[in-house]
This record gives sequence, C-alpha cells and structure tokens, in this order.
Amino acid sequence: MLINFEGIDGCGKSTQIHLLKQYLEEHGRQVQVYREPGGTSIAEKIRSILLDSKNNMSVVSELLLFSAARAQLVQEKIIPALNDGVTVILDRFYDSTTAYQGYGRSVLPIDEICVLNKMASYGLVPEITFYLRISQKLASERRLKHAQDRIEMAGNEFYSRVLDGYEKIIKEHSRFIVLDGAQPIESIAKEIRTHL
Ligand code: ADP
Ligand code: TYD
Repeated sequence: MLINFEGIDGCGKSTQIHLLKQYLEEHGRQVQVYREPGGTSIAEKIRSILLDSKNNMSVVSELLLFSAARAQLVQEKIIPALNDGVTVILDRFYDSTTAYQGYGRSVLPIDEICVLNKMASYGLVPEITFYLRISQKLASERRLKHAQDRIEMAGNEFYSRVLDGYEKIIKEHSRFIVLDGAQPIESIAKEIRTHL
C-alpha cells in the first residue's frame, strides 16, 4: 500500500507520519517511510542541490531535478518495497511537484507537469493521500523554528499560489483525504487511523 502526505511546509506531515508508522507497526504492518526529495544516495545528493539557498536555479531545472530524485526513489526503493507487501509512506510525492513547480512557480503548463510526474513515478498512484490543510500564517509561525531552504525563501505570494494549487488538485482526485492541520497533533493522528 502506498500512502503520501501533502501540504505546505510546516503543516505537520513529518509529525503525523512518525505517529502513523508507529501505529501501523504496532498492528503488525511492515512500514517504510521516505521523504521527497531524498531516500536514496543519488536522491539525497539531488536534494542538497535543490534546497541550497545559494543556488539560483531555473524553474525547468528545478522541475527536472525533483523528478529525477523521484524516479530514483521509486525504482530503487518504493517498487521493491511494494512488491514485498510493505506499506510505504511518503513525505511528499508528485502532488508536491504539481503544487510547487506547477501552480507555485506558475510558468509551466500543468498538463505537461502531469506527464512528467507519471514518468518519474513509473505510473504509481497512491492509494490514499492525506492533505494537511493549514493557513499560510500558521505554517510560517511553525517554520520560524528552523533556517529557510531555497524553496521556502520563495515568499508569501508563492505559498498562496501553492495553497490554491493544492485545493485544485484535491478536487480532481478522490484519493485525497483532507485534514485540518490546525487541530492538536493527537486528534489529527486519530482521524488518520480511521482511514486505515
Ligand atoms: P512538516 O513535516 O509538514 O514540515 P512538521 O511535522 O515538521 O511539519 O511540523 C512542523 C512544526 O510544527 C514542528 O515543530 C511540529 O512539532 C509542529 N507541529 C506539527 N503538527 C502540529 C499540530 N497539529 N499542532 C501544533 N504544532 C504542530
Ligand atoms: P523539506 O525540508 O522536506 O520540507 P517539508 O518538511 O515541508 O516537506 O523540503 C522539501 C521542499 O521541497 C519543500 O519546500 C517542498 C519542496 N518540493 C517541491 O517544490 N517540489 C517537489 O516535487 C517536492 C517533492 C518538494
């Protein structure tokens, strides 16, 4: 089973993924968690290029690098894990590319990004996608706790386009389960468990 978590930076994905992994393992499920971009040695190298705030990167390079990191992770880790019956939980998947490089950067056609997403994920489609909905204000308060990476430096207008973009994506796919990310950690975790 393939599950991904989506939402803007600071929405609480990592926190919920950690709790869900614990819960599923307590119930005898084998679980692997990967964060995107990353999860393999090649993808972690690509991650450091993508997030380095000193890099001045073209939008197309950014799109292709996120996709390259994903293709490596899917081929090297996700497909073998799914074949072994493991539950794979992803901290972001191609919905992030549609939201950030597509709607956020807003210079490339969304349908072309979707074609690339399909290629980079070898056609895999998650069974469930949890979207943690949170306001830009709350997300930025939570993000203050750590140094900003290159994507986070893109600013408020960028984030507002990403948020609007996610709302459009959610409407198009029935696999999305929308959660109120402003709720306490335990109530969100409880709701997530009802879907598994
Ligand atoms: P993400 O992985 O989406 O960037 P994190 O899970 O790392 O988000 O959470 C960002 C920060 O917000 C962390 O300090 C975390 O402890 C805190 N946090 C996460 N979920 C909640 C919540 N529901 N309520 C309050 N704080 C939260
Ligand atoms: P990360 O530190 O993993 O952020 P978060 O905890 O919010 O997931 O950094 C990943 C950053 O890369 C984040 O700002 C979202 C962005 N991103 C894209 O722009 N496109 C993508 O396809 C992916 C996977 C991530």
